Amino acid sequence: MNKVKVGLMGMGTVGTGVYRLVEGHQEDLVKQTGMDIQISRILVQNREKKRTIAIDEDLLTEDPYTVLQDPEVDVIVEVMGGVEQTREYVLAALEQGKHVVTANKDLMAVHGGELLEKAVKHGCDLFYEASVAGGIPILRALVEGFSSDRITKMMGIVNGTSNYMLTKMSQEEESYESALKEAQELGYAEADPTSDVGGLDAARKMSILSTLGFHVGMNLDEVECVGMEEVTLEDIQYAKDLGYIIKLIGIAKQDDELIEVSVEPAMIKQSHPLASVNGVFNAVYVYGEAVGETMFYGPGAGELPTANAVVSDLVTVVKNMKLGVNGRGMLAPYREKKLKSDDE
Ligand code: NAP
Ligand code: HSE
Repeated sequence: MNKVKVGLMGMGTVGTGVYRLVEGHQEDLVKQTGMDIQISRILVQNREKKRTIAIDEDLLTEDPYTVLQDPEVDVIVEVMGGVEQTREYVLAALEQGKHVVTANKDLMAVHGGELLEKAVKHGCDLFYEASVAGGIPILRALVEGFSSDRITKMMGIVNGTSNYMLTKMSQEEESYESALKEAQELGYAEADPTSDVGGLDAARKMSILSTLGFHVGMNLDEVECVGMEEVTLEDIQYAKDLGYIIKLIGIAKQDDELIEVSVEPAMIKQSHPLASVNGVFNAVYVYGEAVGETMFYGPGAGELPTANAVVSDLVTVVKNMKLGVNGRGMLAPYREKKLKSDDE
């Protein structure tokens, strides 16, 4: 049977899940693809670090170029995080004709356009489903499921850490600090959690959703962003007394071709479907002129839900390899955009 060799860059929360799924679901993966998918190299920062699962230590390396320049590696799975250095690695992989799967919204929100262009140029796939809303396959839904519709509004709880914290603060009156510590221990938070609580992680995801949903190149600095750091237990109780729940919400709208995207803590009615999205769960509401209201719901972070999105992308890459149809990526044909803020 033909083998597909994978270079796994990162073996933290998500990388561990990817390793578990590729090893544990091997038989199903073979049935689906007809190929034997093998993780043949793993990049880490520290080879001596104690790992939570048993792995063949010979696979581990601290040198990115032993992964990127291995001629046997067909696909790079980037789950290490970071932006500028990681951009260099992904570009190097694509230039050598290696397909890339990434969970990195920091990277895709800033350099997604350039990387997708490079991927197409070199006939490579570049998939990034796990970068938004963890286990919810929302990017494919936008690109493939709404291609004949015109989306006018998207609203989302797209950061698992802040939603976990707000839920704990609201339901158990837990302190901000203790809720954040738990989210970190559960592997939901970013290495630097200020992007989770400060709204930047959600803003990155809203910029990716708007890019794909509205077919525009939405820049991160065009997303207005307020975090949840200032939300207190008193605010949450006050909102509750009035029949509201506080959530960190991303909103993307296009009215008469004018686009407006923001992230902020908002009071939403307890009866609203987004009010019952609790803990690490995420939800994305999408309104299309033809389809009307739709809502996508599921775990927004964590080892296996995120790994499922990554490995599903990997399976798509392998199926494309078998059919010889790589190089399409998750790319929207962009059009010129007008921002509401420019019009005011
Ligand atoms: P993590 O637990 O911090 O793991 C990062 C991994 O990458 C570690 O194995 C680390 O090595 C390795 N690494 C980091 N910098 C490196 C460098 N410069 N050179 C070599 N290896 C390096 O991170 P994570 O939570 O798995 O997240 C990974 C990516 O997925 C991020 O882009 C994140 O935004 C995204 N993501 C995460 C989640 C989630 O629920 N956690 C969900 C969706 C997307 P060591 O193990 O030796 O330290
Ligand atoms: N830190 C992110 C979150 C991980 O909490 O949503 C998933 O992107």
